Amino acid sequence: MEKLEYLKEIGVTATWLSPFLKSPMADFGYDISDFTDIDPLFGTMEDFEALMARAKQLNVKIILDFVPNHSSDECDWFVRSAAGEEEYKDYYVWHPGFIENGERRPPTNWVSVFRGSAWEWHEGRQEYYLHQFHKKQPDFNFRNPKVREQMNDVLRFWLAKGVDGFRVDAIYHAFEVAPDANGNYPDEPRNDWTDDPDEYGYTHKIYTVDQPETPHLVYEWRKILEQFQKDNGGDERVLMVETWSPIEIVMHYYGNETAEGAQIPFNFQLISNLHRDSDAYHYEYLINNWLSLMPAGKSANWVIGNHDKNRVGSRFGAERIDLFNILLLTLPGCSITYNGDEFGMLDGYVSWKDTVDPQACNGYEENYMAMSRDPARTPLQWSDEFMAGFTSGSSTWLPIGEDYKSVNVKLQRGVPLSHLNIFKRLQQLRAEPAIQQGAAEIKAINSYVLGVRRYLSGNYVYISLFNIFDSIENVNLNAVFAGLPSTFQYALVTSRSIKQLGDQVSASSVTLMPYESVVLKSTTIL
Ligand code: NOJ
Repeated sequence: MEKLEYLKEIGVTATWLSPFLKSPMADFGYDISDFTDIDPLFGTMEDFEALMARAKQLNVKIILDFVPNHSSDECDWFVRSAAGEEEYKDYYVWHPGFIENGERRPPTNWVSVFRGSAWEWHEGRQEYYLHQFHKKQPDFNFRNPKVREQMNDVLRFWLAKGVDGFRVDAIYHAFEVAPDANGNYPDEPRNDWTDDPDEYGYTHKIYTVDQPETPHLVYEWRKILEQFQKDNGGDERVLMVETWSPIEIVMHYYGNETAEGAQIPFNFQLISNLHRDSDAYHYEYLINNWLSLMPAGKSANWVIGNHDKNRVGSRFGAERIDLFNILLLTLPGCSITYNGDEFGMLDGYVSWKDTVDPQACNGYEENYMAMSRDPARTPLQWSDEFMAGFTSGSSTWLPIGEDYKSVNVKLQRGVPLSHLNIFKRLQQLRAEPAIQQGAAEIKAINSYVLGVRRYLSGNYVYISLFNIFDSIENVNLNAVFAGLPSTFQYALVTSRSIKQLGDQVSASSVTLMPYESVVLKSTTIL
């Protein structure tokens, strides 16, 4: 509640909260044991209601993390399912496995995202259950209408509490292939790049993700949101869905000819495909590809960081922090910022001993750093004070980043061209009609420099320029953008710029310093 004001300060209009429901925390709340109660670690339902009330006052939308693919194995529904109670028997995916050479083996070769077989033997029920993630995260059986209705009720419960929408976790895992007439499942074909049957990449995922039924679940949920809005008024409730699927499949989540889907199927094109050496043509392709495949009338969204990937500044280099913020906030549509990326937090150091992420703990000390999601999840660095201002307690769940004295909100508030202040300036620019609702043209000017033009009749033209590499570049914008006004002025500069805000520049000759990104504004109206 205290920090909602900060979201206002930095121009954030909606915030997605990681799961805070009752959970044994095997995957930090992504293993829910009660879908309608709050874990005491985070507070009470009254606390949540107070948070909602304050958020409404400030007009900051609250989006819940909805985790439909699995529950905790400590969830009452699983306990009852494991006990074979009629009502819950088929709530999860069960199979007795096979006896081979006198030994029992799992039903298929399917692998868990967190390593090892995706099947776990349950002594009580004398069957295996499926878990695409941790063994403490059994997968629901979405082919059972009761499960679907149960999940629909979960959505209705939180809508009634006033939430503005849901981020839907791991939706592409929701369905597995249907069992055959004998109740058996097929093996997935092997990938040849690893011989390790415990590695997630061991099989080619044709039966465990991206089944054709899955987007229809989201269409069903969208109807629930729409019905709720009809009955209760207020703004449109939103669905953001997480699906690490091929782009053509992601597009189905927007909806089809007859049904609306999610307003925001996460666009992971940039986070998945860009790397340090990607040139401007690669950026151009990924952005335009999304825009051209997106169904008519929908909005784009852009993601470069989240709690499952290393920090942007650690993946791409700290010199590119402003670049990504400027890019995401001047492209058309919704920009999604992982907390801390607005002021350029970097990965924290987390020793093997302090590592808590199951994705790393289920593997080996030798390469835990490559697997661990902990470094991107260290506490937000509010200030240079005790515990980086995160807590007055004496410990935190992950160590505070060692750089907190120099990378924190308080300090950056006072530095005119800090990442944080650039982020705030960008939010002001987003209020400009050309950036808010204008057309967009994305062009590589050469291999090193990307340009994004935003324009709307009767308004100023904006061009953001990104020098991706470490050379000084001089570019002629007329070479790629037709019909430009001849003169621009700097509407946003960074600490890499030698120009000042308001300086004028000719469209035919713009110089960019190494890794410099800027936003230019035409001096005349279109
Ligand atoms: C995706 C979430 O982002 C990740 O943090 C979690 O571990 C898995 N889904 C399983 O719920």
